Amino acid sequence: MENRIAESELIINNRGAVYHLDVRPDEIASTIITVGDPDRVGAVSKHFDKIEGKFQHREFVTHTGYIGNKRLSVVSTGIGTDNIDIVLNELDALVNIDFQTRLVKPSLTSLQIIRLGTSGALQEDIPVDSFVVSSHGLGLDNLMAYYEFDSTPAERSLLEAFRGQIPLKHGGASPVIFSASTQLSELFKDGFHTGITVTCPGFYAPQGRMLRGPLSNPGLIDNLTKFNYESQRITNFEMETSAIYGLGRVLGHECLSISAIVANRIRKEFSKDGGAAVAALIEKGLSVIATL
Ligand code: URA
Repeated sequence: MENRIAESELIINNRGAVYHLDVRPDEIASTIITVGDPDRVGAVSKHFDKIEGKFQHREFVTHTGYIGNKRLSVVSTGIGTDNIDIVLNELDALVNIDFQTRLVKPSLTSLQIIRLGTSGALQEDIPVDSFVVSSHGLGLDNLMAYYEFDSTPAERSLLEAFRGQIPLKHGGASPVIFSASTQLSELFKDGFHTGITVTCPGFYAPQGRMLRGPLSNPGLIDNLTKFNYESQRITNFEMETSAIYGLGRVLGHECLSISAIVANRIRKEFSKDGGAAVAALIEKGLSVIATL
């Protein structure tokens, strides 16, 4: 059949589950929390009133359950935009591709995907242990170069300003920018900072950290901190947000990324208890997510 997705493109295992996540279509909720660390999945699902199923393959741990009547899944992605490529495509396949016929369903489902992660602040006034909602994900990795996508005029202006103000050696990667789901960001205002989040292809040199390897962009942090366009500033950086927002755009899902700040790169401080900051973010996040 013409539009049938081949076995080599969408890999379904003996259990009828999508390959990397090892989750079947009936085992995933339409509101999904992503965390990086597989051990953090249980730290989210311990707040569930009922757990319906637990699944694991490699670094991808999924727990699906309920808070009251609200069905939720929490999925670990591991670190980085390459892993987000796997997780977002497989989550989308679980709801939008018929696993029997291997055809895209005629009526598509839009998921709510909320990342609860960690990040480093790039502004002095955003302290460790505070929370940042990403108004935009600005990707300095190259994942989205492999997808066709549309940008809004506002995103194009912001990107132009970024290119103009930040003399980066991009190393071949072209920056991209995607805004958050307005529907979801409206719900996370009280007690959250908001700003542009830069998504980096690594933790060390790509985030201006030099241990022994010399930096090709020694002014990176300073330039990101100073960036300003129509009162919008870069608040933080991490390693997943732009890919979540970008693939959310491509596949039609509502996405929001929220980070607990564990490092402040301007004050050169690191959280004394990052685990407690993440636990607080999970509790605060779930109090809203359970009402979606
Ligand atoms: N995650 C990152 O990618 N960078 C930080 O500084 C902290 C968390």
